[in-house]
Amino acid sequence: MIKTALVTGGTRGIGAAISKHLLKEGYKVAATFQRNQAQAQKFERETGIKVYCWDVKDLKACEEGVRQIEKDLGPIDILVNNAGITSDVSFHKMSSFQWNDVIDTNLSSCFNMCQAVIDGMRTRQYGRIINISSINGQQGQFGQTNYAAAKAGIIGFTKSLAIETAQKGITVNAVAPGYIKTEMVQAVKPEMLDKIIARIPVGRLGEPEDVANAVSFLASEKTGFMTGATLTLNGGQYLT
Ligand code: CAA
Repeated sequence: MIKTALVTGGTRGIGAAISKHLLKEGYKVAATFQRNQAQAQKFERETGIKVYCWDVKDLKACEEGVRQIEKDLGPIDILVNNAGITSDVSFHKMSSFQWNDVIDTNLSSCFNMCQAVIDGMRTRQYGRIINISSINGQQGQFGQTNYAAAKAGIIGFTKSLAIETAQKGITVNAVAPGYIKTEMVQAVKPEMLDKIIARIPVGRLGEPEDVANAVSFLASEKTGFMTGATLTLNGGQYLT
């Protein structure tokens, strides 16, 4: 049986690389987006991957979206919680909107999406859930109390859900990328980014495909003994 994968935020950046990689490996793939419709349509035309628009902050929208994808492609076997945003600013200047927006988009989205798929996975006794964390959830980062809290939260969420689902054929793992060549990272001020790159032992930003490779490893049927783990790929910048 061909397995079905759902990648949130799957039409741009790291998410797009994951969607394309999983398609190449023979999975049926659905990708969600929220804001950039033109890019999502272009992605769908170019890849043949069906795209769906909803806000991962909204539990009801997640449940309805998952139901629609299951009608179109079949039960979701693999969920990649990749959708995320930054809203970087020093804590003393951070608004509660900036805090909540980042926590809800990056962390509560994992609750919403897992709620939407977990009963089906438990019934079928199979699932692969992969949550995208970040180096900055592990090490902290100036200007990212919101983002680092969400990404660290993902690691605790992953471990706990992994323990709960271990006897149901479901694995739950996290991937913690370092600084990857995406629009999100390239939005950091050049002088700041140069300083960051200088601290990466391999001497460069990562490629979105580096992350896609790790996700595809965790998505495999063969990776059933690995659960609750955090795969770190950051060019040696932070060693856990
Ligand atoms: N370390 C120490 N001091 C810093 C600093 C740093 N990294 N950044 C700024 N400062 C200092 C400034 O020099 C300034 O000092 P003075 O008041 O004495 O002049 C003070 O802090 C305040 O600076 P700003 O007013 O510029 O601070 P700000 O609140 O407007 O925002 C910032 C600063 C834009 C967040 C900046 O620190 C920054 O760009 N940080 C990098 C954030 C980052 O790495 N984001 C990653 C985005 S990509 C991503 O997140 C993907 C992933 O998973 C890796």
